[in-house]
This record gives sequence, structure tokens and C-alpha cells, in this order.
Amino acid sequence: MKFSHEWIEKNPWLLIGLVLLVVSFGGLVEIVPLFFQKSTTEPIAGLKPYSPLRLVGRDIYIREGCYNCHSQMIRPFRAETERYGHYSVAGESVYDHPFQWGSKRTGPDLARVGGRYSDEWHRTHLDNPRDVVPESNMPGYPWLAQNKLNPAEVVPKMRALRRLNVPYSDADIAQAPAELENKTEQDALIAYLQGLGILIKTRN
Ligand code: HEC
Repeated sequence: MKFSHEWIEKNPWLLIGLVLLVVSFGGLVEIVPLFFQKSTTEPIAGLKPYSPLRLVGRDIYIREGCYNCHSQMIRPFRAETERYGHYSVAGESVYDHPFQWGSKRTGPDLARVGGRYSDEWHRTHLDNPRDVVPESNMPGYPWLAQNKLNPAEVVPKMRALRRLNVPYSDADIAQAPAELENKTEQDALIAYLQGLGILIKTRN
């Protein structure tokens, strides 16, 4: 029988099977190499796992849904790098499980917000954004300053991350709760924000 494309098109199951084969092959070719490239798997120079306080702050960032309005990924386009600084690289987020890249930008990208404002500015902003940015439509998070952290809760978080190859030592984990004594959720969130993207700085 002569091969005809029409024959494939008239056999839905065969068509589905062949489409799946082609798409899976294309996917594998694109995705698999990323697991083996140094630029996507190795931490950038100087990158350390999150300190206990920043780690807890990051979980508060996720709990409060900050990612619904803020991405953490600067794309390599002039308009973005002029505004936010050096574009994001994969090696900056190798210790992020899950990463917070995103693309939803009701508010500005936060990938390099670390050091841009003082801790005091963040306190005021998180309590009520309109006290520092009158036209802001970001909600306030005043309860974060009231809620004390539970120092013990960081231990299982660090153990879980260690299973995902984040290099926390036994000593790091043993000392972690002490770093959280008498800290509020707001302290933790601000510590997290102040460290974002500071290893690659090109912005004034
Ligand atoms: C409903 C959308 C929305 C949510 C949710 C939201 N934000 Fe915002 N955020 C904004 C907008 C809009 C701005 C710009 C105006 C301003 O500075 O308040 C902003 C600004 C910021 C800035 C200043 C960024 C800069 O470069 O000037 C920070 C930091 C920030 N948000 C952190 C957070 C954190 C942390 C959370 C979660 C606790 C959060 N945001 C939740 C909308 C949001």
C-alpha cells in the first residue's frame, strides 16, 4: 500500500498516538538538557541557602499570596533591566522549592528588591502601603507585625529542604530556632525581601 498522509488523518487513534510521540520527543529535547546544564543547576557564586529567618519569611510570602501580584523574574529585555536591574538567572533560585518566578505583575517585579528600601519603609508599607505610596492598591498586612514566630516550626522545613539537596548542616538546623526567638512574621518577611537578588547588582 502506498503511504498517504490522508491515511493517518483518517485514523484518529493513530493520529493521536503519533502526535503524542512527536510532542513528547520535542518536550524531552527541550527539557532534559536543562537538568544537566551547569548554568541551570549550579548556584551562582556566593549563593547560600536561606537563613532560618528568611526561610520562614519566604513561607509567609507564599502563605499571604504575594505572588498573585508580584513576579520574581526579570526578563532579559532592555525595558525590564533598565527598571529592575540585571535579568534573573536560574542559578539564583536553585535553593528555591518551589521557585517564585511567575509572570503576574499587578505590582512591580521583586526579584531585586533587596536593599532598595529600608526595613522601616517595609514596615510602614506592609502595615498600610498607602502611607508610603498614596496611589498603591496593594492590600495592607498589619497582622504580620503582631504575630510572633514559632521557632520550632523551622526545623522540619529545613529537614525537608535538605532532602531536596539544599545543603543545611546538622549544626545549621540545631541553631535555627534560636535565630527566630522573639521575631515577628513581619521581621521574617522583611528579612526575606531584603535579601532578594542582591548577589547580582547592577542597579543604583
Ligand atoms: C493586589 C496585588 C498585590 C498584592 C497581593 C501584594 N502586592 Fe505588593 N505591590 C502591589 C502594587 C500595585 C505595588 C506598587 C505600589 C506600592 O509600592 O505599594 C506593590 C509594591 C510592593 C513593593 C515595593 C516594590 C518596589 O519595587 O517599589 C513590595 C516590596 C511589595 N509590594 C511586597 C509585597 C508583599 C511582601 C506582599 C505579600 C505580603 C505583597 N506585596 C502583596 C500589589 C500587590
